[in-house]
Amino acid sequence: MGAILGIETSCDETAAAVVTDDGEIQSSVLDSQIDVHAPYGGVVPELASRRHIERIEQVVKGALDQAAVRIRELTAMAVTQGPGLAGALLVGVNFAKSIAYASQRPLIPVNHLRGHLASAWMAQPQFPRPAIMLVVSGGHTHLYLTPQAGYYELIGQTRDDAAGEAFDKAARMLGLEYPGGPVIDRLAKKGNPQAMQFPRPYVNRGGLNFSFSGLKTSLLYYLRDVDKMGKGRPPVEDLAASYQEALVEVLVKKSIRAVQRYKAKGLAVVGGVAANSRLRELLRRETIHSGISVVVPPLSLCTDNAAMIAAAGWEEFRVGRFASWDVDAQANGSLAQKV
Ligand code: KG4
Ligand code: ZN
Repeated sequence: MGAILGIETSCDETAAAVVTDDGEIQSSVLDSQIDVHAPYGGVVPELASRRHIERIEQVVKGALDQAAVRIRELTAMAVTQGPGLAGALLVGVNFAKSIAYASQRPLIPVNHLRGHLASAWMAQPQFPRPAIMLVVSGGHTHLYLTPQAGYYELIGQTRDDAAGEAFDKAARMLGLEYPGGPVIDRLAKKGNPQAMQFPRPYVNRGGLNFSFSGLKTSLLYYLRDVDKMGKGRPPVEDLAASYQEALVEVLVKKSIRAVQRYKAKGLAVVGGVAANSRLRELLRRETIHSGISVVVPPLSLCTDNAAMIAAAGWEEFRVGRFASWDVDAQANGSLAQKV
């Protein structure tokens, strides 16, 4: 039985995990930097790199110890190559490169989005294809068609803000802490989603593309107008619920449209925003009688983690995609149109 060590440092989480060739997660260790960045209302790249440097050794050691595996026993090492923050990625890539070189193990560069996509197969190994996959995170809102294992075709994406960004920016306008998605999710549970009618941008146009900057601006104008009237703002729970409702409704409608257009058998929603409880609920409700198989990975696999990087590493390992020793971080690398 083989095992791959996955390392992830693309943003504000230092993570390492060991995953076997049949997809079993033997360990998954995560050092979150939320406390470092929260006072600034967003991720500060310099602070992120510094904290990755401080923590990576103990995080990797923790993952190996928990899995009771030694470096020399690993089949390979997989590391997030990009996209992400350049300085943060460099920490993981260089750390992985040095231990892989020292132990003469193969090194596999992994695209962060491929990691999120792989989390669906970890959650449900029998997930059918062709499938539509929606990646919704802080930096991405991408729709993919996957006709067969390891192959992805980009069929839609956001024209401006990513869904996670739209949550985080709205939270900042409402004076809530960072990251905004989980806070809005929590408050929305106590609010009325019909209290305000925010626009559903692109819902009936734009093909399979998204746009969230208009929604964000409509919240900004709404708050400006009520502040101007001086009667006080409505309950933040209602604002959170109404804003969230508009955002997740667009995500669900477009995903289902993609399923219909490509006659897909499955729909997966992955990435940090897939942790959103209303999105999960609406997806279930809208697909319950459709006969399509819907996968939304457990919360621990939705937000950034290294188990998904190790799992994507296995996909690359099987087709022999390895790195040479001069491999470097690719901060702007996205998944190609067709991979
Ligand atoms: O995938 P992820 O952990 O990191 C990136 O690759 O970006 O996603 C982070 C994003 C943040 O924007 C965060 O606000 C959002 O995911 N998020 C949520 C929830 N949990 C995390 N958004 C809505 N509802 C949630 N429960
Ligand atoms: Zn991510």
